Amino acid sequence: MLSPLRLLCWIAVAVLAAGMGTGACGAERSEQALEDLGRAVFHDVNLSASRSQSCATCHDPAHGFSDARDNGVGAALSRGADGKSLGDRNAPTTAYAALIPPLTRDAGGQYQGGLFHDGRARDTAEQAGQPMLNPLEMQMPSAAAVVARVRENPAYVAALTAHFGAGLFADDEAAFKAIREAIAVFERSPVMLAFDSRYDRYLRGEVKLTADEDQGRVLFFSSLTNCTSCHLLETTHLASRETFSSYRYFNIGLPANHAARAVNGRAGTVDRGLAANPTVNDERQVGKFRVPTLRNVAVTAPYMHNGVFRDLHTAIFFYNQHLVKNADNAINPETGQAWGAPEVPATVEHDKLALGQPLDDERIALIVAFLNTLTDKRFEPLLKK
Ligand code: HEC
Ligand code: HEC
Repeated sequence: MLSPLRLLCWIAVAVLAAGMGTGACGAERSEQALEDLGRAVFHDVNLSASRSQSCATCHDPAHGFSDARDNGVGAALSRGADGKSLGDRNAPTTAYAALIPPLTRDAGGQYQGGLFHDGRARDTAEQAGQPMLNPLEMQMPSAAAVVARVRENPAYVAALTAHFGAGLFADDEAAFKAIREAIAVFERSPVMLAFDSRYDRYLRGEVKLTADEDQGRVLFFSSLTNCTSCHLLETTHLASRETFSSYRYFNIGLPANHAARAVNGRAGTVDRGLAANPTVNDERQVGKFRVPTLRNVAVTAPYMHNGVFRDLHTAIFFYNQHLVKNADNAINPETGQAWGAPEVPATVEHDKLALGQPLDDERIALIVAFLNTLTDKRFEPLLKK
């Protein structure tokens, strides 16, 4: 929320002429103005070709910053600014995305980090430009066209030039970069990095977990399950700013989302995952996707890079088939049919997925109870009762 002082300050920035440097409201002023600008831009439909779609359309602050619209595909995929175009991947939450490290490759050839399911953006500032120019998303023809839309708004121009200098708009690329930086500042703000879930409050000693939540927590962190080998960044499970992703890439053997592909017309195509990243282009990485954060996971259904599962229970139950092959584990409870073959069979990480024990319904329910505690305070009303 804007404090009255900050609001006043921002209005002052908006009203006063460009190039005033750091003055009126002190050093914090300019950074705060940039965050407020980033928030405004994130919600501004004028940055899409049809003036009908903003970042917040697909990263809805009322739904854990994910796309809750049905889109004719059970919310698995997002429609673009023309109301028709459909992508091929599920929109991840933007909460905590600012903490994803840039893509790196270690000596062993293992990749880690990068934004998007295939790590193709280095950081949030780089990422923010891509949806605006994506022909399936906000559909703006060029960076210059985005800058022209921003220039329509005098408050934006004032805030940007106050921070980046009076000459900013002489160079479209520089102005486009400044706009993306403002979005990135907003994505680093406490709105997106709240760390105020029940789990965080539990770590701070402010609340007690229920018996179910606590048993789920113990299971999640125990060697009975193998979750933490992929869904943990810090080595200690008490790390206060844990984002529940190693940010590494794995193929967990997911089937294609055939129902969604029947609607977007991509039946029979293969999402190459990390190998689709132009800087990677390595056949061994086909079908691997970056481990997603589990923060707010309970309120950002459907699940996986292609939104193939509607329910958190299913997403966890899916792992069982790698541990024990039997008739029960072979059926997707959402469809009543077999899970379906992995979209990319060749790179499925069978050995990594074969650790731990299969989970019965009761234990899955406990883990779900734990995952519910990773919901930021503002999203708690969205939790299923
Ligand atoms: C039409 C829907 C749509 C719009 C509009 C949209 N996004 Fe996204 N966003 C997605 C999808 C889908 C992905 C995943 C795409 C992929 O991995 O290839 C994504 C990925 C992201 C990610 C990466 C998260 C992660 O975990 O890697 C961030 C951050 C993000 N979007 C921010 C934004 C911002 C900022 C805007 C506005 C400038 C925006 N998005 C506009 C659908 C959308
Ligand atoms: C070998 C690494 C690995 C292990 C072990 C693992 N996961 Fe995952 N998990 C992933 C990857 C990778 C994805 C994303 C897959 C994709 O979209 O293609 C994922 C996705 C998920 C999702 C969906 C999140 C979303 O936003 O779509 C949930 C929930 C989840 N995992 C929970 C768990 C739990 C609980 C465990 C332990 C029982 C576990 N995972 C074990 C790697 C792993």
